[in-house]
Amino acid sequence: MGTIVIGSGMALGEHRVPNDALARVCDTTDEWIRERTGIRERYYVKTGTAPSDLAQRAAEQALEEARAHGITRDDIDYLIVATMTPDYYFPGVAPILQHKLGLRAIPALDVRQQCAGFLHAVQLADALLGSGAARHVLVVGTEVHSGFMPFDVDVVIGTSSRVPTDAERAFATRFRDRTVLFGDAAGAAIFTSTPDSTRGVLATRLYTDGSQADRLYVPSGFVNRPYITEEMVREGRHVPEMDGHRVFRAAVTRLPEAMRAVLEETGHTVGDLKLLLAHQANLRITEAVQRALGLADAQVYNNIDRYGNTTSATIPILLHECRAAGRIAPGDLVGLVGFGAGFVWGASLLHA
Ligand code: ACO
Repeated sequence: MGTIVIGSGMALGEHRVPNDALARVCDTTDEWIRERTGIRERYYVKTGTAPSDLAQRAAEQALEEARAHGITRDDIDYLIVATMTPDYYFPGVAPILQHKLGLRAIPALDVRQQCAGFLHAVQLADALLGSGAARHVLVVGTEVHSGFMPFDVDVVIGTSSRVPTDAERAFATRFRDRTVLFGDAAGAAIFTSTPDSTRGVLATRLYTDGSQADRLYVPSGFVNRPYITEEMVREGRHVPEMDGHRVFRAAVTRLPEAMRAVLEETGHTVGDLKLLLAHQANLRITEAVQRALGLADAQVYNNIDRYGNTTSATIPILLHECRAAGRIAPGDLVGLVGFGAGFVWGASLLHA
């Protein structure tokens, strides 16, 4: 028995945000963002669109494809949502999505592993299917990062022509190294079992180094009493704190290590890989991972130029775009790698 994907989908925020639009609210340029990150544009949601709404759109697309295989929403018996930007502190996104999709009263849980969230969900889905606890698992990664931006999002998306004050601009500029990276999106995949033993998730390796948690985190939350105040928002403590250099260095080391570990565990080599789908945090990170593994350009697919970093949504979106473009055929060996806040990271190897 192997765990395979029988449906996938994706959704983007309603507003396209080219780099130049961010220069309206902070000191940055299209040139800096493109050269240092590879990002040309990203998407933000319109006011009122929740992470669960993006998740719903991506999941409906995956369900539509699964229907062609005779699987309907009533067949979904487990829902896992990966996110670091849930609709609310609680409950998680999964119960809200279960209701929006009209799924049965199935288990619905959130995974809080940031950019490695989808990989953790893949391992869970594979274990659930392997043990017989579930037969069809819907996994969604969804993020609305525009909610933590320290500037007037309406100015960026063009629904306000207000010119930010000098103080607002200086405040937003303090956070420009992180705010330019992120976009709003969701990706979904439906996992099921196949009797074809040559296909499936061959191996997943996941790792954690919690000693690095303060290198990338959001300071507001229940460590404070109350967990959010006006003063905290004024000070920007609702925005991620990030040691960009440390994150960069750790990602370019840990991601190739994790990929090599799953290849070795399964008796494969880098040359066997049809595609490597790496979490999209910075094009320079994925290029360094490609170099470290010695992969040809044809073995790697990136889309950070169009969407920015969409955290838990990057890997399912890569998977969806490659499946839709016919770049993944049954039996192809596909590697997935992700690294994110925690630090948490890992790799998964699939025979598609
Ligand atoms: N626009 C213009 N200038 C900028 C910007 C910006 N948006 N951001 C920073 N700068 C300036 C800096 O102030 C600095 O100026 P100085 O030389 O006058 O001091 C200069 O650019 C260089 O800054 P660096 O931080 O050295 O730039 P670097 O090339 O390291 O790129 C970046 C920074 C993009 C953050 C990089 O370190 C990175 O990608 N790190 C990984 C971050 C990441 O992946 N985070 C998400 C993890 S995913 C998750 O789990 C959520």
